[in-house]
Amino acid sequence: MNGALFGGQTSGRNDNEKAVKAMWDYTRFHFETEEAYMKSINFPDILNHQALHDKFTVEVMEIYNEIKEGKQVLSTVVMKVLINWLQEHILQEDKKIGLYLSGQHSS
Ligand SMILES: [Fe+2]
Repeated sequence: MNGALFGGQTSGRNDNEKAVKAMWDYTRFHFETEEAYMKSINFPDILNHQALHDKFTVEVMEIYNEIKEGKQVLSTVVMKVLINWLQEHILQEDKKIGLYLSGQHSS
């Protein structure tokens, strides 16, 4: 992620749109790559994991649409909530994929 975009120093609606769009582009790439990988290894909890991705996707798209419509200004708080969600997801949920793999290879 580009730290400059997420420092909360956005000044207008276009900047807000760009920041959320950049976050969305990064997230979508991460989700698509990861979902393809989970399928390739037959990860047993793939449906629950995809549901978490889908829920976050809806939330980001709602924020993006509200900014585009001028209903919301992207605040540092909103951006921190989104980034925290991603960090926790990576540390907790994505980690389960690695644990599954290491369990397969250790037995
Ligand atoms: Fe994930």
